[in-house]
Amino acid sequence: MQILCVHLLSFRNILCLEIALSPGINLFYGMNGQGKTNILESIEILSTTRSQRAFKEAELVNHAADSALVHGSFLKNDLDFEISVNYFKNKKKTCVKNGKNTTADAIFGSVNIVKFFPKDVEIICGAPACRRRYADMEISLTDRHYYNNYKNYIKLIESRNAVLKSISEISEHDRKYLELLNLIESYDELLPDIAYKVYRGRMEFIKEISIYANRSHQMISSNEEKLDMRYRCCLSENIDKSIDLNENLFKSRLIFLLKKNLKNDIIRRLTNIGPHKDDIEFLINEKPARIFGSTGQIKTLAVSLKLAQIDYVFNKIGDYPVLLIDDLTSEFDSRRLFNIIGSISKEIQTIVTSTDHEIFKTAFSAANIKYFQVSGGGIIKVSSG
Ligand SMILES: Nc1ncnc2c1ncn2[C@@H]1O[C@H](COP(=O)(O)OP(=O)(O)OP(=O)(O)O)[C@@H](O)[C@H]1O
Ligand SMILES: [Mg+2]
Repeated sequence: MQILCVHLLSFRNILCLEIALSPGINLFYGMNGQGKTNILESIEILSTTRSQRAFKEAELVNHAADSALVHGSFLKNDLDFEISVNYFKNKKKTCVKNGKNTTADAIFGSVNIVKFFPKDVEIICGAPACRRRYADMEISLTDRHYYNNYKNYIKLIESRNAVLKSISEISEHDRKYLELLNLIESYDELLPDIAYKVYRGRMEFIKEISIYANRSHQMISSNEEKLDMRYRCCLSENIDKSIDLNENLFKSRLIFLLKKNLKNDIIRRLTNIGPHKDDIEFLINEKPARIFGSTGQIKTLAVSLKLAQIDYVFNKIGDYPVLLIDDLTSEFDSRRLFNIIGSISKEIQTIVTSTDHEIFKTAFSAANIKYFQVSGGGIIKVSSG
């Protein structure tokens, strides 16, 4: 997978910019607040049609404009294609692939990327929902069946919750009560199958990614730290909740717990059991990273997850994704930084931002690296070395 060129119009603080990227390493450097992350964000949008950091689409449009354009041209398996996403201040975005209007869903995943943003430490330190979102997003980018299945699962839970809310507002003697109970029962018949697919997809993902992530984490930490990942299923009866459940056991536990918790679910107006309540645990040298990890160790873990994702994507689609790393140099000591830079394969198109570029010159002395100096939403110098 290769990104050939990115073209931006009125996107954040970037008024008009065309960037021809090198197939190797591309470093965007410059002072704070100049537009480096905005450039990475635009590439994220071309892959997922969303920005992880934007709360609303309208934020992406330059303050002085009404619409923004993000356009990219790509090469994948020797075929080239183009994607554009238009954002507006007052209406929903529109998407275009190879000149034809299309949906965000149709574009999602066409451009394979692995991205690290500093906020990704939330995968480790944030709420369980951050970890589930991480797994669901990463699996979905290479597995459309999982993506559709996951979306259907969430829809089913939302429908069930809506009925729980309605039923909680009426008396048991109301003639509608039984009708709504029957509706919940019909959802509960559909749930086990679809929930198991979500569980199985995540379980397989964690099993595979944890091997690669540990390898990266050990390498970055010069073999001082070992990383373990465990999927914690809320249906599991064992104490650490990480024992793999087979299909029959999973489904029968879910059916049993949905029934057992129904009264409680009605009171709380929410479905309190199922994969939407699961979690992932990260352990560094056998201790929970969320509780005992230092800032640099947690950032090492987050970057290791992303480097692991490269191998994961390669295994799934037989092609390397493009690697995006925002603000690589902060938080790491020089040894870890050299280990990370040294581990980035020269075959993988990589786009990195940093306030410092000297360290890259030393670490990548022999590599083909293209430097872009970013200032005031533009590129004021391009050099290579
Ligand atoms: N919709 C918008 N319109 C105009 N400017 C915007 C918009 N959204 C963000 N900005 C500006 O973009 C700049 C931030 O850019 P960006 O986050 O890419 O900086 P950066 O170069 O990555 O900085 P740092 O090194 O601090 O991470 C800020 O000056 C911000 O005010
Ligand atoms: Mg930034």
